[in-house]
Amino acid sequence: MHMEEIVEKILPRYTPEKKDGLIPILQEVQKEQGYLTEEAVEKIGKYLNLPVNKIYGVAAFYDQFRFRRAGHFHVQICHGTTCHLFGASTYLNEIEKQLKIKAGSTSRDRRFSLEIVNCLGACNQAPVLKVNDTYYPMVTPDDLTRIIRTIKEKTE
Ligand code: FES
Repeated sequence: MHMEEIVEKILPRYTPEKKDGLIPILQEVQKEQGYLTEEAVEKIGKYLNLPVNKIYGVAAFYDQFRFRRAGHFHVQICHGTTCHLFGASTYLNEIEKQLKIKAGSTSRDRRFSLEIVNCLGACNQAPVLKVNDTYYPMVTPDDLTRIIRTIKEKTE
């Protein structure tokens, strides 16, 4: 379904005067198309009568929203305080090196995307990594090597 149709299908479920519809609308649109396009944000802004920069400001506050198309494997590395203490920076460097992408980007061939998040909500299992919907708790360097090898093999 085209982005325009997606947004038009979702918006009428919400009352334009109720600004608290913003987050659920963004969630629904992202669920349908995988990320939020500029076009979608503009349409939502018009509907709710909210400035576009206000919407970006709100969305940026939540880790869950993406503004770029995710790769086939979307890797999230937690960089919250606990995960940081358990070596998340080293893991991030290693992932960037192995997947040849920088955090916040998607590989040209769309096989991988990498995102830094503030907390994956499993601090007692730090360091935590998430690939698509799968959580990897207490990741060791060996685990990381294995995870990266697996996702590379699956997209070859
Ligand atoms: S700090 Fe990493 S899961 Fe909370």
